[in-house]
Amino acid sequence: MERAVIPVAAARPGHVGDGLPAVVGAGLKVPLVTGEWVPYAGLDHAASTPSLVAVRDAVDELLPWYSGVHRGTGFVSQVATRVYERARQEVRRFTAAPPDATVVFTRNTTDALNLLGRCLPEPTAVFRFSTEHHAALLAWRGHRVHRLATPDTPAEAPAVLAKALADAPGGPKLVVITGASNVTGELWPVAELAEVAAARGARTVLDAAQLAGHRPLDLAGWGVDWAALSGHKMYAPFGAGALVGAVDWPAAADPYLAGGGATAAVAEQDDRTAVTWSALPHRHEGGSPNLVGAHAMAVAGRSLAGAGWPAVTRHEEELTTRLREGLARIPGVRVLSLWPGGHPRLGVVAFSVGRCGGEPADQRLVATALSAEYGIGLRDGAFCAHPAVRALLRDADGHQPDRALRASVGLGSTAEHVDRLLAALADLVRDGPRWRYGHPDEGWRPVPDPRPAPVLVR
Ligand SMILES: Cc1ncc(COP(=O)(O)O)c(C=O)c1O
Repeated sequence: MERAVIPVAAARPGHVGDGLPAVVGAGLKVPLVTGEWVPYAGLDHAASTPSLVAVRDAVDELLPWYSGVHRGTGFVSQVATRVYERARQEVRRFTAAPPDATVVFTRNTTDALNLLGRCLPEPTAVFRFSTEHHAALLAWRGHRVHRLATPDTPAEAPAVLAKALADAPGGPKLVVITGASNVTGELWPVAELAEVAAARGARTVLDAAQLAGHRPLDLAGWGVDWAALSGHKMYAPFGAGALVGAVDWPAAADPYLAGGGATAAVAEQDDRTAVTWSALPHRHEGGSPNLVGAHAMAVAGRSLAGAGWPAVTRHEEELTTRLREGLARIPGVRVLSLWPGGHPRLGVVAFSVGRCGGEPADQRLVATALSAEYGIGLRDGAFCAHPAVRALLRDADGHQPDRALRASVGLGSTAEHVDRLLAALADLVRDGPRWRYGHPDEGWRPVPDPRPAPVLVR
């Protein structure tokens, strides 16, 4: 078959300015309650990143070739199958996993961690810190979970883990490592934790959801057994994620989803159905694969690596410093951190606002006003990491608010977005909202809300 028919998006233009990959939707205008339209300041990359232009173009190029993967003899179907299998190789390369690592495409990180959770030998002792995202906290139901105390510094994390592993009984063990906190952006010492785990016979899984689009991954170098990642957090929002890593436990487990693709043979015999399950990775990819999502992830990975991680990192670090320094100047704003001092972090900054127009601030109202009056999108709440956020918000008097705000930057963010957020927060702290808001039980809405709904949602 001709190789040339398969689109190669990274070879196309799509990079702007200082070599950073361009994103779809840059400059998109959104309405304010005042009737003005302003460029959207999307400061919520930790939740989902916009698509890269290169990814959108690659998807456009792929769509005429869209067809069933592993399910057809037609030329187009065979091209689709090759694109899908090539995406698998590219995701393996993107994560720098060992050559024999399996890559199972999933829906997202949650799905990938739950898949691994279903592959653990019974019973496995799972070790994890309490600061993780719910996906990494909860995917291990049915196994014995050991909660590790949050260390005082990242450098102390390996010792906390070593002690817990030393005290643990024999049997299979899994250590859950989060690459970067989705609350504070702080980086965990992945290689050091993996080394401690390996030395004590424990396996490791890296929750790379936040890390993947922002820093290079190095599974083999770090000695991590598995990584879970999401395309929509690495500029490829087409519904795919992946579990990448060691073959043994996933190969020995029953399929995650029983059905077509996961089965090599099925026969009805007397009163039973005899099934021969497929080998990896198909064993855990029951149902029709997400060709577009897998291809999008591969192209995003190639584009990010092609742009050069130093350029991506520099852009994020400049914006993060601007954001953190600006927040520190606003009265009553408290930035949340797991650890004191200047540890390495991604561009994810959670904070709470003390007062808004002289009243105790309602974080959700602040977030609503930032959107309605300033065209700024960020996140409020506890960011699917309730234990971590509650612990970080607890104050010296024992008060425990359960909501914070989170701004997160990435390739779709600019200095103007950050400056607009800082100016808007300063206004809100000093004067409060300029519009009226109601329905606090539903999380606040402008009253009235004259913003027209885009055609998409009409
Ligand atoms: C650190 C971390 N882990 C896991 C997840 C879950 O990712 P997804 O929602 O793509 O499954 C997230 C999502 O915010 C995250 O930030």
